[in-house]
Amino acid sequence: MSKNKSALKISLLYFLFSFFWIYFSDLALNLFFKDLNNAQFLQTIKGLIFISLSSILLYFLIKNFFKTLQNEKSQLLKTNEILEKIIENAPVIIFWKDKKGVYLGCNTAFLELMNLNTKNDLLGKKDSDFHISEKENFMNDDMIVITTRNAKLNYIETVTAKDKSLRFLNTSKVPLVDDKQNIIGVLGVSLDITDQINKQNQIKSQEELIIQQSKLASMGEMIGNIAHQWRQPLSIISTLSTGMKLQKELNISNEEYEKESLDNINENAQYLSKTIDDFKNFFKKDTIKISSNTKTVFEKTLKLINSRLKNRDIEIIQHNSEIEFETYESDLIQIFINIINNSIDAFDNIKTNKYIFINTKLEKDKIIIEIKDNAGGIPQNIIDKIFEPYFTTKGEKQGTGIGLYMSKEIVSKHLNGTITASTVNFEYLNNHYTGALFQIILPIKKTIME
Ligand SMILES: Nc1ncnc2c1ncn2[C@@H]1O[C@H](COP(=O)(O)OP(=O)(O)OP(=O)(O)O)[C@@H](O)[C@H]1O
Ligand SMILES: [Mg+2]
Repeated sequence: MSKNKSALKISLLYFLFSFFWIYFSDLALNLFFKDLNNAQFLQTIKGLIFISLSSILLYFLIKNFFKTLQNEKSQLLKTNEILEKIIENAPVIIFWKDKKGVYLGCNTAFLELMNLNTKNDLLGKKDSDFHISEKENFMNDDMIVITTRNAKLNYIETVTAKDKSLRFLNTSKVPLVDDKQNIIGVLGVSLDITDQINKQNQIKSQEELIIQQSKLASMGEMIGNIAHQWRQPLSIISTLSTGMKLQKELNISNEEYEKESLDNINENAQYLSKTIDDFKNFFKKDTIKISSNTKTVFEKTLKLINSRLKNRDIEIIQHNSEIEFETYESDLIQIFINIINNSIDAFDNIKTNKYIFINTKLEKDKIIIEIKDNAGGIPQNIIDKIFEPYFTTKGEKQGTGIGLYMSKEIVSKHLNGTITASTVNFEYLNNHYTGALFQIILPIKKTIME
């Protein structure tokens, strides 16, 4: 009960009692004592009775008032105790400071974070009194919350512990206000997410390692490819330089021819250097997303495996929309190479025309990429297993069984997309074929430029 209410209650009861006493006692005197000779004496008696009764009344009223006060106080203490327990046992770090950044309170989790033994080591001090590398950031955040009166919620910050290890915190700070809505300080709550972040980083580096391993696995094939792509320009360079040398020896050199040959040699040398760059880029670790487009990604992919396709008379039929999007380009190239290499392997015993169809299109905010061959398809009894690690039907020497597993890992975990496989029947140039169809769906937000 509020102070005013209690005071009003006591006064009102006192007033009512006094009023009725005076009124009824005077009435009784007039009624029962006609002889008013004794009036003076009776009035004195009446006054004494009034004082006695009102004292008893006041005694009970005040006693009752103090009892209520006591109850309220112990209720308040209990609430405080519960609050303290909540603050202490909540699985979060809690601290509060005044307007000047002076610590007013905290829980044990905060003391542990700050490497302090008791609250006395903290209370009355500011962040600037401690050797924490991030103290300026903490003080800035407090200032922002206090001056703008707006909470700063769920942001990630770091604290360097005494042993130099880094702790990651998900922190929220809210302004502390009094009854009149004046800012009196700032309340901070942090969740230690260091283990979570470390685990995520660990998984990420494991994934990157697997991607790297899988790239290295295709290195053998790539080197064969480089050798093949270099054969022609090297033979041109060799022919031209031998021709020039011969002309010189025979003294029939012709300046026009020499200049043309040197230009030609230079052009081919540039081509050699370019192929090396292409391969080098492919083996580089893909850590940042770059702006690319579907057509370019397939051009780069086909450049890397062109010789395998040509050797086996495999024709590539492309219907690609030029879709601009941000991606880990060499990861995507790796996936396409895995899928196309599988199709090339599947063509091993096929005598008819060999086709690989590549289709890309944009549907809403998703890129749909389809790679299809006419190599007979994937048998129904294994189709559910092909994305499992180490599943191969090619024998240990020819396949490790990680190509599609890796592709699925990269698509789902690195590119946030999906990859599915099916066997399809279709018609092309009036012929019926059966083949494998791989569909990759990637999310994007960019626009289409046909
Ligand atoms: N286009 C396809 N046509 C028919 N079968 C396929 C096709 N693509 C994949 N497969 C089947 O899926 C299996 C798994 O493919 P995956 O790429 O994961 O491993 P792999 O090619 O056997 O070995 P690796 O790619 O590690 O060298 C293959 O062994 C093959 O049986
Ligand atoms: Mg494979």
